[in-house]
Amino acid sequence: MATKVEIDWPKINAIIEKYKSSHEALLMIMQDISDLYNYVPKEVIPTLCAKLDVRESMIYSVATFYKTISLQPRGKYIVSVCTGTACHVLGAERISEALQEKFGICEGQTSTDGLFTLEAVRCVGCCASGPVITVNKHTHGGLDRSKVLQLVNDYKQQAS
Ligand code: FES
Repeated sequence: MATKVEIDWPKINAIIEKYKSSHEALLMIMQDISDLYNYVPKEVIPTLCAKLDVRESMIYSVATFYKTISLQPRGKYIVSVCTGTACHVLGAERISEALQEKFGICEGQTSTDGLFTLEAVRCVGCCASGPVITVNKHTHGGLDRSKVLQLVNDYKQQAS
């Protein structure tokens, strides 16, 4: 399970102020907070409601609708396997299986060390390089089982 984060309130307030506390900017504010923690911590929801004058249900709606935003703690690295047609044909399923075995989790879950969350995404626009995964905002293509396992080992080493 991912470890609970310490909320950096000055940074949260700076994000809210950046968008002038506008409720119309709720999505962008939640995205910026997600960029900070890889999810929107539940502890910030009352602050968002108060400062942006939005209902809590609106925050849950945004989190439900947009796949890049989660209210559940996620890993330091969001590993997304492209399941688009080209990547599927080039072996995306084998990549996903290798990662599930490696992390000991299913799609949508986070590894017990809190480092990796495994997800599936639609085409990320690099079809010629398939099969492709993204790790946070970085794209990696031309993968096979051994390459993807080496890649996540490298990320794990970076984190230690
Ligand atoms: S189908 Fe995977 S990048 Fe397009």
